Amino acid sequence: MNKGKIIWLMVILFLSYTAFLYASLPSDSGIISTSVYSGKQIWQKNNCGSCHQVYGLGGYLGPDLTNVYSTKGETVIRSLVQYGTSVMPSFKLDEKDLNDLVMYLKSVDASGKSDPRSFKINYDGSISQ
Ligand code: HEC
Repeated sequence: MNKGKIIWLMVILFLSYTAFLYASLPSDSGIISTSVYSGKQIWQKNNCGSCHQVYGLGGYLGPDLTNVYSTKGETVIRSLVQYGTSVMPSFKLDEKDLNDLVMYLKSVDASGKSDPRSFKINYDGSISQ
């Protein structure tokens, strides 16, 4: 095989693999509700990210909250935010802001798992959760 053919073969392999990977990406409309959007702003305004992580990004004083909605539940979120603990400050949020914050954490939770130990590596190098 000459050099030209090898280069063409590699280009074709690259393009087919790229097409395959893009075709198998999960589809997501990317549209979020207004309460999720407002909840994200409350998260940012109150600096929750200075102590907590989402998908491992953020401060490290408190735990990662990506999946807190499904693991601890809404009641724990509400009471911790309202009353705090010895280490976490309490936030005096009104009912609407607290609801939006819960909706934000619910939507983050539905977007995937943050703990990579449960991930499965597929034969093509992609990852399933
Ligand atoms: C000053 C740091 C700090 C800030 C700011 C902070 N937290 Fe926390 N948070 C903590 C710590 C530390 C804990 C662990 C509980 C403990 O040890 O007392 C915690 C626990 C939690 C938990 C329970 C997690 C679990 O797995 O039990 C939730 C939910 C939570 N925080 C939500 C929030 C939200 C929402 C905000 C923003 C409004 C926020 N926190 C802001 C420090 C903080």
